[in-house]
Amino acid sequence: MIAEERIPEFSPLEDESLTEYYSRMAKKYMKFPIKRVLSRIRAQGIEQGVALDVGTGPGIFPLGIARSLPEMEFLAIDLSPAMIQTAQANARERGLEDRVHFQIGSAYALPLKDGAVDLVICLNTLHHLEDPIPFFNEAARVLKKGGKFVMMDLRRDAPKALAIFFNLLWRLIMREERARDGLWNSLKAALTVKECEGLLKRSKLPSWRIYPQAIEMWIESY
Ligand SMILES: C[S@@+](CC[C@H](N)C(=O)[O-])C[C@H]1O[C@@H](n2cnc3c(N)ncnc32)[C@H](O)[C@@H]1O
Repeated sequence: MIAEERIPEFSPLEDESLTEYYSRMAKKYMKFPIKRVLSRIRAQGIEQGVALDVGTGPGIFPLGIARSLPEMEFLAIDLSPAMIQTAQANARERGLEDRVHFQIGSAYALPLKDGAVDLVICLNTLHHLEDPIPFFNEAARVLKKGGKFVMMDLRRDAPKALAIFFNLLWRLIMREERARDGLWNSLKAALTVKECEGLLKRSKLPSWRIYPQAIEMWIESY
């Protein structure tokens, strides 16, 4: 356990230079995480349709996944205007702006009609949400009947030795002083697997499973 209670990290990232820095680092180091998410989406049997990414940050996940799923259209939202601006620039850089759309928006009020999407993804963002239940309910609302979801976030109940190891790696990679404590702060803000399970049970999201991993957990439809 990293911390007994959640220590909030609930505000969106607004600082433009830090946003640019995260974007650069993500472009460099996200190839493997993108492959992992892609394989989980494929395991859900989703290859086409409309996908929503919630808390997209610099947009590296939807942009990376879109390359491998050419029949999928993406809407990706984030509360931070600085992140959306960076994500839009990343989309233009890759020539994907017609298929991956970025928009300012909140996880608590998804800018979509009921049953509008085939897939919801939400990566490394749950720990920013003070109350994830309204978000889970929103995800349930915008998903088509039989729609799928793949979510992943850190877990505060990760084994401490593993958390320390990954934090050391993070600190080695992150040269920017202001980003150095990022992983540890996010771990402290994260849910435990049990807390997440309790919230999902009280939400409208149907047919979910949690897969705990080293310092993260995956929440997926089945
Ligand atoms: C750690 S970043 C993850 C970015 C991206 N998904 C990734 O894994 O690279 C979390 C993002 O969630 C956004 N965020 C925080 N609260 C939010 C909310 N209520 N609704 C939408 N986005 C939010 C932040 O601005 C930030 O860009």
